[in-house]
Parts: sequence; C-alpha cells; structure tokens
Amino acid sequence: MARSMTFLILFSILAFAPMCYCSRTFSGHLYPQYYDYTCPQAEDVVRSIVAKAVAREARMAASLIRVHFHDCFVQGCDGSILLDSTGTMPSEKRSNPNRKSARGFEVIEEIKAALEEQCPHTVSCADVLALAARDSTVLMGGRSWEVPLGRKDSRGASLTLSNLDIPAPNDTFPILLSKFNRQGLDIIDLVALSGSHTIGNARCTSFRQRLYTQSGDNQPDSMLDQSYASQLRATCPRSGSDQNLFFLDNVTPAAFDNSYFKNLLAYRGLLSSDQVLFTSNEQSMELVKKYAEDNEVFLQQFAASMVKMGNISPLTGSRGEIRKICRKINS
Ligand code: HEM
Repeated sequence: MARSMTFLILFSILAFAPMCYCSRTFSGHLYPQYYDYTCPQAEDVVRSIVAKAVAREARMAASLIRVHFHDCFVQGCDGSILLDSTGTMPSEKRSNPNRKSARGFEVIEEIKAALEEQCPHTVSCADVLALAARDSTVLMGGRSWEVPLGRKDSRGASLTLSNLDIPAPNDTFPILLSKFNRQGLDIIDLVALSGSHTIGNARCTSFRQRLYTQSGDNQPDSMLDQSYASQLRATCPRSGSDQNLFFLDNVTPAAFDNSYFKNLLAYRGLLSSDQVLFTSNEQSMELVKKYAEDNEVFLQQFAASMVKMGNISPLTGSRGEIRKICRKINS
C-alpha cells in the first residue's frame, strides 16, 4: 500500500512537472507566437495600417518608433503613454519629452479599432506599439525582427516618471547611460537605439542651446561643425520658432541606414545627446565608428536592441488588462 502511494505521488509529480514548467515560461515571458491561435491576422492588420499611414506621411514611421521607446522607458512597455488625462491622473502625453512632440496616437487608435473588430478584447495596445515600431523600421529600410508578444496594458500612467526616466537632449553621456542602465539596457543598446535618429525630426527648441550658448558662455557647442551650426541658425533663431522642424539625419532623412553615425564622425549630429556618443566616452566612440563603417552590423544590432527594449518590465498573465481603446482604461 505504502509502495503504491509513493508510486502515485511520484507519478503525479512527474506528470505535472512539464506543465508547471510551461506555465511558468509562458505566463511570465513574451513570445512571438502569442496571438497565433487567438488572432492570427494581428500582425497583418498592424502592418497594413502602418504602411498606409507611412505612405501618407513618411515621418510617421519615426514617430511610431519613438512612441514605443517613450512607452517602454516609463514603468515598462505597458501602453501607459497612450492614456489620456483623467480627473485623477495626468497623461504622460503632457510630460516634457512628449508635450508638442510625441505623435502617432491616432494611428495606434486606428489599428486598435481594426483589431477590436476582428478579434475583440485580444490584442493589447502595448503589443500594437511594439509591432508598429518594427513595421515602421522595415518600411524605412531597416531589418526586420520577430516581436515577442503577450504584453498587457497598464491601468495607470506616470507623468512624473515620464519626466524623470526618458532621456533629454541635453543630458550628458553619463546621465544618458545611467538612464539606459536603469532599464536594463547597456552601452551597446544606447548607441544602437540612438541610431533611430537616422529618420525623423527634431524641433528647434530641442537643440537651440548648442547653436548659441552651450555652456552659458555665449559660445556655440564646440562639438558641432560650425558651418552646419550657421546653417541651422538660419531657421532656429535665438528666440521664437520653437516648433520649426529639422531632420535628425540631414543626409538621408528618409532612409533607415547608418548615415546618422557617419554624421557623428563629422560633428554633424543634431542633438547634443547624439554628438556626445562620439565625443564623451571611448567605448561609445568605438561603437559609433563600427556602425558608421558597417550598415549591416548597425541594422542587426538595432533589431536586437529593439527586442531588448521591448522586453522592459512587461505586464503579463493576470497583471494589467487588454484595453478596448488605447487612450482609456476599461471601466
Ligand atoms: C539616447 C537618448 C535619446 C534622447 C535624448 C532622445 C531625444 C530626442 C529628441 C529631443 C527628439 C526630437 C523631439 C522634438 O524635438 O520634438 C527625438 C526624436 C526622435 N527619437 Fe529620440 N532620443 C533618444 C533615444 C531614442 C531612442 C532609443 C529611440 C528609439 C528606439 C528614439 C527615436 C526617436 C525618433 C524616431 C525620433 C523622431 C520622431 C519624429 O520625427 O516624430 N530616440 N529624440
């Protein structure tokens, strides 16, 4: 009797062990096949709406990549950036890095509405952001990657953390690196992901300081090519015109390539946070040179670092929800 009891216990442990292992693996982690059975058309829906939006306006690709980044750096990739303000919660859209700057929200809502029609209550807004960032990269000429999926959406947002955790264009190199390290990203991710400034725009207000008085001494940034600086001063004056737009990579602004890194070698990075990657740290300088030399190496590392960024503290399993519309938590 005792022997058969032992056998029974042993048998049940062995029988259920693989299940326990699977459930631990699959509830805590993201994986690309997450919607294979529940919404197999999810990736096609996202791709076709992103393609339409980018065909209407090429810059949208850049804007969508950036929204995913600004989502992930604030308490993880949980769609928190998409929430509008409520009486008790100010939206991250109002933070310094996002106000009058972050864009693309209506494209995300359009994708989400299409998904709700086809597979109601299944695909999270946080996953839509991750897929849209990948599709945007590919549409502009970057390499593709498999997007791990299964994120849930947050039921809150943090304006305070959006201000604190998203890097600023006048941050020094050590501060930039520490903001990446805080998210579990390293110097390779910092340099490779900054390479997304190979497309898109920045406003005059984001780099004006470099043109006039970088260190409060009435001198332009000495790490900025002076003929490029005077060209920029023409449409980014000492005051006013804050919202005037400039290409982050003014050599090939509509191509996802390594020309951003070549610009840094020529002291033609637009933002101070771009140029310091080449001028402030030896390891980072070597990475800039490597990516400037080899487009393929950059594109591969960019894809790998995007997967890493997309894995920052996701809500999974029973944590979080699948929002019905991305700008509002479910009631
Ligand atoms: C390293 C720290 C970073 C800083 C300080 C920074 C800062 C900025 C600033 C100031 C702008 C222009 C915003 C404006 O003037 O309206 C910008 C644009 C952009 N950023 Fe970054 N960024 C950083 C890293 C990243 C990363 C990691 C990504 C994506 C993975 C990214 C993607 C973009 C894109 C695509 C744009 C253009 C957006 C558009 O045209 O709508 N940036 N960034």
